[in-house]
Amino acid sequence: MAKIASEYFKVNPWKIEEEGFNPERNRVAESIFSIANEYMGVRGYMEEGVSCDSLSGSYFNGIYEYGQVDESVQYKGIVNQAHFMVNSVNWLYTRIYLDGEQLDLNNADVREFKRILDFKTGDLTRTFILITGDRKEVKFIFKRFISMNMPNYGYQHIEIEALNQSIEVEIVTGLDFSILHWEKQNYWNIVKQAAGDSFAGCIGETITSKQQVFSGYQLQTNIDIPLHSFKEEKVIGHKLQVNLTKDQKIVIDKQVTNIARRKPEKTMVDLWNEGMDKLNNQEDYSVHMQKNIEYWTTIWKDHDIVIEGDEKNQQGIRFCIFQLQQTYHGVDSNNNIGAKGLTGEAYSGHAFWDTETYCLPFFIFNNPEAAQNLLMYRYNTLDQARKRAPQLDCTGACYPIATLNGEEACTLWQHASLQFQPSTGVAYGIWQYVLNTGDLEFLFDYGLEMLVEISRFLVSRGQWNADHTKFGYYGVMGPDEFQMMVNHNSYTNYMAKKTFEYTLEALADLQVCSSVQYQRLIDKLKLQNFEIGEFKTCAQQMYIPYDADRLLYEQHEGYFDLPHIDVDAIPVEDFPLYKNWSYDHIYRNDMIKQPDVLMFMFLYNQEFSPDCKKANYEYYEPRCIHESSLSPSVHSILAAELDKIDEAVDFFRFATRMDIDDYNRNTAEGLHITSIAAAWVNIVYGFAGFRSDREELVLSPIIPDKWKSYRFKFKYRGSLITIKVTHQEVELVCDGKKMNLIVYGKKYQITSESLRIAVKK
Ligand code: BGC
Repeated sequence: MAKIASEYFKVNPWKIEEEGFNPERNRVAESIFSIANEYMGVRGYMEEGVSCDSLSGSYFNGIYEYGQVDESVQYKGIVNQAHFMVNSVNWLYTRIYLDGEQLDLNNADVREFKRILDFKTGDLTRTFILITGDRKEVKFIFKRFISMNMPNYGYQHIEIEALNQSIEVEIVTGLDFSILHWEKQNYWNIVKQAAGDSFAGCIGETITSKQQVFSGYQLQTNIDIPLHSFKEEKVIGHKLQVNLTKDQKIVIDKQVTNIARRKPEKTMVDLWNEGMDKLNNQEDYSVHMQKNIEYWTTIWKDHDIVIEGDEKNQQGIRFCIFQLQQTYHGVDSNNNIGAKGLTGEAYSGHAFWDTETYCLPFFIFNNPEAAQNLLMYRYNTLDQARKRAPQLDCTGACYPIATLNGEEACTLWQHASLQFQPSTGVAYGIWQYVLNTGDLEFLFDYGLEMLVEISRFLVSRGQWNADHTKFGYYGVMGPDEFQMMVNHNSYTNYMAKKTFEYTLEALADLQVCSSVQYQRLIDKLKLQNFEIGEFKTCAQQMYIPYDADRLLYEQHEGYFDLPHIDVDAIPVEDFPLYKNWSYDHIYRNDMIKQPDVLMFMFLYNQEFSPDCKKANYEYYEPRCIHESSLSPSVHSILAAELDKIDEAVDFFRFATRMDIDDYNRNTAEGLHITSIAAAWVNIVYGFAGFRSDREELVLSPIIPDKWKSYRFKFKYRGSLITIKVTHQEVELVCDGKKMNLIVYGKKYQITSESLRIAVKK
């Protein structure tokens, strides 16, 4: 794999630390130092502004703008207007002048520069000493955090200290709505602004989507000096000036309240009043910081993965869990997980099929309420999926490949019109969630409606071959985005078959549990008997290309005959291929971007024999270039299962440190949030051999040579299970209800007394 680690940050099990300011690394560092709380997020940019490569990104979950309508797109079903998560108010806006000269770290003599993100407190700290032209030394401390308990609250703390001589300091602080999206365009109109002695507030409204953001702050200083408010077109704030004598320090605390309104259900006056109320009730920095520390202590107590003997991966996995938690923990069922979370503008903030296939397991086994909310997001956007289906000349509901608000936002037609893994992914997510939580209420109240609508879509999009013996999908693109307009993609067909089967099973279960509710659902959906018959026939007749002699699934009909490329012979400079090879060149050979056959073998793992998994792994892995960051973890999991431990460890290398070491050379654009979710999956399903696709949970741990031990916990139907694996034994203990677990093929009851089993060598 042409992926090289770019090691830059210090290795520390509980922190990310940068020592020394390095302008070339600034944009990557800004992504890494992002803080968020699901509701809002800011990149780790320097609030005072810096002239090197930087993206001052501030985002709110669900606050988006529409791009321009592309009038040249006249074809039915092809998206001609995208929506994207829009860069919003810079509530950390600061400018600093020392003896009249503006502070710009890129043009400054600086020592002892450090930026630290602390996983235990959730705050970002930046410190340095600046030496002015006339040798004055000034110490700076910047801190910020976003509340994990109160979604609207953010905090900023600045200290400036004259170390050896007096100095004239001017600080400008405020709220900046003049922020540029994609560093080009501003999408905000100001609808109200006001400032008082120590507070300022502003409501901005997006130009096209008409969403509103209230931002307001209160300032506190340690020195009693006048604060002068100012207003510019899209910036409002305060200026203060102070002459610091030697050893004197000015401290400013800025408490910020932000409210994001996706739909203008309230008047602007109501929004303003709500914002001011929240602001007036906001606790100060130190009080609220304590609450954040308590929040993170609770999270680490149950969600931590402890790896002994491998500091780098220890740091990596904690970073992944920390960033995933910041991006999503189930506050609101209208939120989803963008591929880049709230850390950048690439992928436009969109959520993909990644949510159900890569992120959901973490939530099902750590925070089932959040898992339910993720699925509720799909329920809340079912109408948009229903509207999408007829655009593709189909019925039922077709979930978008990329979206924020439930509408399809992908303007690349071959993805938006040919990829159905979001729809089958939703069905898979419902199945996984219900199987592992037993939440039939969710299934019957919400899940089934989605399942029926997805099945209807899959019937209407599917086709029979000429002699009517094979049902399947013609002209599609599976997860492997290097093969388009293919027929009978195994993944699509297999997942559709599973969707039909589960829909039928869930309908039958509801009929048994409550004939009244069953009838209500049938009436609501106007579901006809012949449709149920179609689900059955399509499931039974689904064609999945398979070579029984070689135990090989064919990725799609005709794949085995494609021209072969030796992917190891592709020069490193050609990566990423989509930038260096012509688009059509990528499509006309047997090279694959990410697991496709191997993906359904991971999702429905226990349906396949070990020999079959081995044959397919050995056939497809050498053809895969892992251009998607989602790819290595699934390969690592299967390699671990197939006793290819070195390969498993090698692929795992990318999982936890994908962004810290910038393996894909694009962390500058934002973090790979959905693939870092797969880091958890990689350890738990990979090394621990966890399987959750049957009634009983399975565990089959191995341990990489280098590690002394690893430990994790998971929640399951009221129990909290702790698992520790060393080179000698697997230790299992359960807090709460006893539960059964199959370990190395044998059933055990896990209780509060620790159970020890010899580890498989
Ligand atoms: C992958 C998709 C994925 C998307 C967002 C693409 O590179 O090919 O499978 O959904 O990234 O993570």
